[in-house]
Amino acid sequence: MLYTPIKFRNIELKNRWVMSPMCMYSCENGEANDFHFVHYGSRSQGGTGLLMVEATGVEPKGRITNHCMGIWNDEQAGKLQRIVEFVHKNSESKIGIQLAHAGRKGSTWNNIQIPVEEGWETVAPSPIPYHTTERIPHVLSTDEVKDIIQNFKKAARRAVKAGFDIIEIHGAHGYLIHQFLSPLSNIRTDEYGGSFENRIRFLIEIVDAVNEELDENTALFVRISGTEYAENGWDIHSSVELAKILKEHSVDLVDVSSGGNIHGAKISVFEGYQVPFSSQVRNEAEVKTGAVGLITKVEQAEEILQKGDADLIFVAREILRNPYIAVQGSFEMKEDCFFPHQYTRAKIST
Ligand code: FNR
Repeated sequence: MLYTPIKFRNIELKNRWVMSPMCMYSCENGEANDFHFVHYGSRSQGGTGLLMVEATGVEPKGRITNHCMGIWNDEQAGKLQRIVEFVHKNSESKIGIQLAHAGRKGSTWNNIQIPVEEGWETVAPSPIPYHTTERIPHVLSTDEVKDIIQNFKKAARRAVKAGFDIIEIHGAHGYLIHQFLSPLSNIRTDEYGGSFENRIRFLIEIVDAVNEELDENTALFVRISGTEYAENGWDIHSSVELAKILKEHSVDLVDVSSGGNIHGAKISVFEGYQVPFSSQVRNEAEVKTGAVGLITKVEQAEEILQKGDADLIFVAREILRNPYIAVQGSFEMKEDCFFPHQYTRAKIST
């Protein structure tokens, strides 16, 4: 199944391998540069069905660090367009972008909060820092929440203009959207806090606003944390209920990760440890899902698909080690996969 195509709206991925979004912390002014051009360009030569560009801030305060990617202005979108055009012209990969807002987890370097003068005042649904040693974030007013929703919409418009095939909204890992989802980080009393319906409202309004910018030629994914591993926190049952609603709002795939919102949460990490969350969301909400997390082998990826635990396989660290994992797997499984025509002689080892 790894090498069977799959379609989201009009976008057909040639295979089920996805380069998972990974921040490279290598931008100035949020702009992609030659490093990013080579980094994403080389993964496209490796045959991956979809490349997901790293978490990209929809406004300056939406970044995790001063060196994160941004898409709040046209210059940034122009730099990304160069990458998109290369990928489309020189490979069969599709390319998506993950739109993000860090919220209370912004203004950091190496996971440590930096002073306001070097970074910025962080924002959040409620005055609860991620870690007790951090500054209390600015509590977003209802109007400010609505402004951020509009910034996601504007970012999506720029991404579509730059030619991206897929938009992924980052609702996972304890960043701003996840902060709204969780009752442990959201104790608001307006329409964006309190009940489950109110806590998911921020994400749903972002989904609707972004969808207004998309047609059948750009698909929409949402990444969530299936659980945050904390008592009375966001859990897998909330994720299943959310996924059902996302499907009604024309989300094409739920990319299921976990954790990130609760400092010091106990997480047991092992091969494919997040796959069961993807499986539960896929089977109970009847949506397409992506599985991610310590998936490093071709047979392992194939088995996940065969068992019906996911529709796409997101690979992060392994694809940094081996950009050619998709094409290599196709040699092992004797399946067709894009390989640069310039490299044809390497198909024969002698
Ligand atoms: C990540 N991850 C991540 N996730 C995300 O949703 N947006 C992002 O920008 C990043 N950035 C990032 C940077 C780096 C260097 C790493 C290693 C990871 C998480 C990543 O997409 C993935 O979910 C996890 O790494 C688990 O998958 P692997 O690495 O076990 O395949």
